[in-house]
Amino acid sequence: MSKHIDLKVEQKKQNNGKTLIMNNASLVSISDFSKEDILSLLEDARCFEENPNRDLLAGKVVATLFFEPSTRTRLSFETAVNRLGGRIIGFSDANTTSSSKGETLHDTIMMVSNYADLIIMRHHLEGAARYASEFSPVPIINAGDGANQHPSQTMLDLYSIYKTQGKLDDLTITMVGDLKYGRTVHSLLMAMYYFHPKFNFVACDELRMPDEYKAFCDKHGIEYHEYHEFSEDVINSTDILYMTRVQRERFTDIMEYERVKNLYTLKNSMLCGSKENLRVLHPLPRVNEISYDVDNNPKAYYFQQARNGLYARQAIICKVLGIKVK
Ligand code: CP
Repeated sequence: MSKHIDLKVEQKKQNNGKTLIMNNASLVSISDFSKEDILSLLEDARCFEENPNRDLLAGKVVATLFFEPSTRTRLSFETAVNRLGGRIIGFSDANTTSSSKGETLHDTIMMVSNYADLIIMRHHLEGAARYASEFSPVPIINAGDGANQHPSQTMLDLYSIYKTQGKLDDLTITMVGDLKYGRTVHSLLMAMYYFHPKFNFVACDELRMPDEYKAFCDKHGIEYHEYHEFSEDVINSTDILYMTRVQRERFTDIMEYERVKNLYTLKNSMLCGSKENLRVLHPLPRVNEISYDVDNNPKAYYFQQARNGLYARQAIICKVLGIKVK
């Protein structure tokens, strides 16, 4: 699984007689990072939390291409660039771009790479970021591709887990809700492989963890248990309770969405017997998976988690561009 990225490696590739400089620093999947990469990024995120305003991107232009809606990911990446002294171009609605006239993703990436040093992209198609990284002359950061991966979310999740638990090793993580389409749980599961986790998967049959991720756990000796019931027994054995939204936009049958959308809701009373160190995480946006009465519980951590996204993404941008943080 761990294809380590070498930020210094550049390949020259022949293309129609021209030599293109291909950059291998893209972050497409969390498996692009080794354990050492992850630990070093967490340390860099800590440095950015101490001081997020540093002039490390002076003279750099970063493009954010969001073919799918976003609040946190786009705004935290853009805040990260602004606080590092770089400039931002891009779009948050592809309907305002020439892709609405039929321009391909290939041509859009080639055009934007003429203007920017780094492309951060979100796309509804699984594999879109990998595809772009294969020909883009500038690095690509995957800000979410369909139901596949969301690696920058995983870095902020890991930073949040580390901050709240004081460690990443030997934790019990309970993932609840849409484990089929929720790309954040897929990326987090793969990253935790380095840290000897135990997983509980709470989902209905329609939204259970896909077989490929359970096969990944089997292959690497990661313990997991599957439940339909969101019981207090499961909650009370948990260190990290990772709630997820049912991803309406991924359903082809809206009646099926209606059937499953309200199956799992965390209420404050359900946390009464939980461990002192338990923290509730959610990548957000929330619809109705977490009652508002949980928000004032000190174990609710989802808004701080989103704030940690700024620091984690500052660290990722610097790593991908080969900029030393300290
Ligand atoms: N967590 C997350 O990806 O949120 P947005 O969709 O608002 O970017």
